[in-house]
Amino acid sequence: MFDNYDRNIDYLRVSVTDKCNLRCKYCMAEEGIEDSSHANILTLGEIVGLVRVAACVGIRKVRLTGGEPLVRKNITKLIAEIAKIPQICDIAITTNGMLFADMAEELSAAGLTRVNFSLDSLEADRFRYITSRGNLSDVVRSITKAMEMGMAPIKINTVVMKGINDHEILAFVELAKKMLLHVRFIEFMPVGNLPFYKTDRVVTVSEIREIIEHKYELYKGAVIQGNGPAKSYQIRGGMGTVGFISAMSDHFCGECNRIRMTADGKLRSCLFAKEEFNLRLALQNHASNETLADIFSKAIREKP
Ligand code: GTP
Ligand code: 5AD
Ligand code: SF4
Repeated sequence: MFDNYDRNIDYLRVSVTDKCNLRCKYCMAEEGIEDSSHANILTLGEIVGLVRVAACVGIRKVRLTGGEPLVRKNITKLIAEIAKIPQICDIAITTNGMLFADMAEELSAAGLTRVNFSLDSLEADRFRYITSRGNLSDVVRSITKAMEMGMAPIKINTVVMKGINDHEILAFVELAKKMLLHVRFIEFMPVGNLPFYKTDRVVTVSEIREIIEHKYELYKGAVIQGNGPAKSYQIRGGMGTVGFISAMSDHFCGECNRIRMTADGKLRSCLFAKEEFNLRLALQNHASNETLADIFSKAIREKP
């Protein structure tokens, strides 16, 4: 469905849980998510029902996110149910990769088509420091597994932070050069008032590019599947690509194709939108599919 700015909104990001098995310093406080906030999350059946309605108003791609989507119970079953919706042609996840390796076969059999991994360091100790409790070897095993299974494209999200991992930028580029992986450097954004965010820790996309282009030649190549906000480039002589997500220094609203649903059933037409459409409340009031479809249509039409 087209919004008021003629953008085709066909991509729904669904957060299936706020919980996570890691505590990346830029994302989540050490104490994690309050238990009370779990009481209100949508059931798997409700999520499937809502995706079915979304498909009727033009959603074709679904990305499951979190928190960490793979800590949600029966996530494989959810994927299998979404895969049965005829209009949905792409089911992706964004994961930290801690649990993926052991679940990969079942996820793929259920209908998972693509996976993006969050990975901010290639050094075990630094990875542990950033995530507070992650093991780099588990993530490496997961990415390797996804590659062995022929999943493609495989994207890596790397949040660049000055003094924390900015010295690894070239190592990540080298990884994308040697392997068929798509590394996307993400500008550090302030999330949830965490004290770890400091403006002097932000490295802008143009600074990241400058560092890379001292050593590597980047050029515009084939378009990679997915419709995210990344601007991607081939590396001369390389297998994969590098991309840049400039959340802070450059907005990409003109090309935005997505709406998002929170784990507790709020529909948001933009990451930055104040307005939320309460789908869970509508479900509790026994809203018909037509009413739910109207809510989706309104959110899409009025997307800022
Ligand atoms: P594909 O292109 O389909 O692979 O997905 P994606 O890149 O949109 O998904 P992913 O979950 O990997 O998101 C990567 C990064 O994109 C996130 O860390 C966010 O920083 C950024 N991002 C995703 N969606 C939005 C959005 O709507 N607005 C903004 N500002 N940033 C977004
Ligand atoms: N700044 C930038 N990116 C962030 N992500 C989470 N928190 C932040 C932040 N404060 C990224 C994760 C993940 C993606 C979905 O969002 O690294 O890859
Ligand atoms: Fe946040 Fe993702 Fe890190 Fe979990 S893995 S703490 S959701 S950035």
